[in-house]
Amino acid sequence: MALNLHSPLKLISLICFFFPAISPVMSLNYPAVFNFGDSNSDTGGIVAGKAFPLIPPNGETYFLKPSGRLCDGRLIIDFLMEAWELPYLNPYLDSVGSPSFETGCNFATGGSTISPANAASVSPFSFNLQLTQFFRFKKKSLELLKDHEELQNYLPAEDYFKQGLYMFDIGQNDLDGAFYSLKSEEKVLALIPKLLSALKYGMKKLYDSGARNFWIHNTGPLGCLPRIIASFGKNPSDLDEFGCVISHNRAANVFNKKLHDEVCVNFMTQQLPEANCTYVDIYSIKLDLISNYSEYGFQQPLAACCGYGGAPLNYDTMIPCGVTKDLNGTKVTASACENTAEYINWDGNHYTEAANRFVADSILTGNYSDSPHLRIDTSYFT
Ligand SMILES: *[C@@H]1O[C@H](CO)[C@@H](O)[C@H](O)[C@H]1NC(C)=O
Ligand SMILES: *[C@@H]1O[C@H](CO)[C@@H](O)[C@H](O)[C@H]1NC(C)=O
Ligand SMILES: *[C@@H]1O[C@H](CO)[C@@H](O)[C@H](O)[C@H]1NC(C)=O
Ligand SMILES: *[C@@H]1O[C@H](CO)[C@@H](O)[C@H](O)[C@H]1NC(C)=O
Repeated sequence: MALNLHSPLKLISLICFFFPAISPVMSLNYPAVFNFGDSNSDTGGIVAGKAFPLIPPNGETYFLKPSGRLCDGRLIIDFLMEAWELPYLNPYLDSVGSPSFETGCNFATGGSTISPANAASVSPFSFNLQLTQFFRFKKKSLELLKDHEELQNYLPAEDYFKQGLYMFDIGQNDLDGAFYSLKSEEKVLALIPKLLSALKYGMKKLYDSGARNFWIHNTGPLGCLPRIIASFGKNPSDLDEFGCVISHNRAANVFNKKLHDEVCVNFMTQQLPEANCTYVDIYSIKLDLISNYSEYGFQQPLAACCGYGGAPLNYDTMIPCGVTKDLNGTKVTASACENTAEYINWDGNHYTEAANRFVADSILTGNYSDSPHLRIDTSYFT
């Protein structure tokens, strides 16, 4: 159901009728969502595009089988789509079956970077390629719709490209990879301006093609991932009071501050004057969750639910989630914890569905964003 809620009067009556206990953000109304990103928002792209073998127990909590998501269930973007009453986004790269893209398309792929991919990259589908995929998708959709009315339930109408929401959640892998390859925080920080220029370039191209609603997730506390703690947190002085790696979280903060000030505020107001930018502070939501985990009903702030090795991190680089390996003649498996809802981290690199739900719920309060879209006129609700 695509509600058109542009008129406040209509909005009030619809709310009273359909949603007696409505949350304010239900008043958001996008006919379609186009998403660019990495595994944090990949709903099946890398699995389709690279035939990446995603195995159980991925998907065990919600889809009850691997769903193309690196998670036991839904991602943040799935919960947002639910709240906006839109179907989950199908991946651009998944051609098997007859996926509908009428209300949006997902270009995100696990492992993707803002920097152009090279032969060593996990994902060849870096941001520049995701953009060219989008432009091909748009052109082809509009061409097909001209001659094939029957495809309107499968492809976004021209208006949807104008009124749609353009979401971005990318950059984490650039910082992550740079710490391994450059081995110096200073050199990692020096990369950031280039990353932001590439983002701005892409956003300008989208704007020139008619995009007006931009929604940007900043990058999370990279230094709190079990893999990063295992590799870079061997010395207690590398860690902060929550047990997270200081250098990585500092780099994430520098990236985020510039993403906010330079991209979402300066660049957008000067170069994309007719567009709106919603900047969502994922970092603060996740750090709040990790540091106050027990108040939010979790028992494990850092350890991976699905991993091998036991406390404190339950993470072993050589034995990823779901994999069985021979260790000195003994077969060991990185299996899932009993109750995934007690864990924030799923597999050492990604969050559990329970954590993703917490993050999405926090986003939807509007308390963590700088946003024209989430600024609520409370007079509608009194
Ligand atoms: C943890 O919760 C306290 C109390 O609500 C809050 O002041 C603090 O900012 C939270 N920690 C983080 C990192 O958000
Ligand atoms: C496997 O054997 C090696 C060499 O004896 C030893 O260093 C290592 O700790 C063993 N690993 C496990 C998991 O038992
Ligand atoms: C948003 O933040 C305000 C001020 O800190 C707080 O009073 C309110 O409860 C928060 N709203 C939600 C829905 O969490
Ligand atoms: C987005 O920006 C335009 C132009 O600045 C403005 O007219 C419009 O109301 C904004 N939309 C929202 C949802 O704030």
